[in-house]
Amino acid sequence: MFTTIQLQEQINAYFSAMQIVKAPKGLYEPIEYILAAGGKRIRPVLMLMAYNLYKDKVEEVYAPAAGIEIFHNYTLLHDDLMDRADMRRGRKTVHKVWDDNTAILSGDLMLVLAYQYIAACPVHYLKQVLDLFSATATEICEGQQYDVDFEQRNDVKEEEYIEMIRLKTAVLLAASLKMGAIQGGSSQEDADLLYEFGINVGLAFQLKDDYLDVYGDPAVFGKNIGGDILCDKKTYMLINVLERANPEQLRELNQWIGAQQVNPQEKIAAVTAIYNQVGIKELCEEKMNFYYEKAVTALNRVSVAPEKKKELQELIHNLMYREK
Ligand code: IPE
Ligand code: IPE
Ligand code: MG
Ligand code: MG
Ligand code: MG
Repeated sequence: MFTTIQLQEQINAYFSAMQIVKAPKGLYEPIEYILAAGGKRIRPVLMLMAYNLYKDKVEEVYAPAAGIEIFHNYTLLHDDLMDRADMRRGRKTVHKVWDDNTAILSGDLMLVLAYQYIAACPVHYLKQVLDLFSATATEICEGQQYDVDFEQRNDVKEEEYIEMIRLKTAVLLAASLKMGAIQGGSSQEDADLLYEFGINVGLAFQLKDDYLDVYGDPAVFGKNIGGDILCDKKTYMLINVLERANPEQLRELNQWIGAQQVNPQEKIAAVTAIYNQVGIKELCEEKMNFYYEKAVTALNRVSVAPEKKKELQELIHNLMYREK
């Protein structure tokens, strides 16, 4: 069994050995730039770990694991454009260093590369893996569209938010695990349980991302704080503050939401202050814990020896308490 750190190192070594840049440089250099910026490599690590529950030779699935990470990074290029985000992993985003068209086209090519690498999975599982990947990529686009649509709405319900983050974020973590299990030759039941585990980890993960977008340390988080507040993202925190605010707080919130030409720092400070008054931070922590517990329950039901699950248990624990 490999540890999280070992698997992260293996994936990073695999990326380092990749020759990405060729002509035209304007297309390839941004791909190298985003992939070299690091990141936690959660999705490939989850795939390798799930595989490693059943088989030892993790190198057999380096290619599809890298493919999942390339796909994730492609979504980031487009997501940062859609979210008007200037910083990622402590660096300027691709559309800031280059321009919008670069983020679109380099992103498009990354989607193609992702398919190429994923299709290099053990051939016996090719159809199953590709079908799951295509279904997952479709759901992520659906989730991203809901995320954008919700910016214009003020009546988004918590259930709608949870479904949106299930689609935009959780399914990719879940699919990474399930693809690892499938390629490891697991039973259908285990593959489904690992998927369920991944969905709950993913929901907690996106809740924490939204939380860090307000309460994170920018130097550690690597993204600008308050980006979600500026875009009127209907996060768990905003949805719940709208339901719990007193009339005065609600009046103030409604002045900020949708307001044109605001001072960004003023808006972030004002909305955060109301979050704090209402106790949204604690509410969000409770919700994260709720999904974390569900994840633990699903993992417990996977039919492999308990000691084999230790790395996954530790990984998700660390994800819950992460600062970036
Ligand atoms: C960022 O994903 C996008 C979300 C789904 C929240 P990560 O937090 O996994 O980003 P990196 O890859 O570690 O930078
Ligand atoms: C990420 O949601 C979802 C996808 C990239 C598909 P966010 O927009 O919250 O991710 P960050 O915060 O920019 O990483
Ligand atoms: Mg974003
Ligand atoms: Mg987004
Ligand atoms: Mg975010």
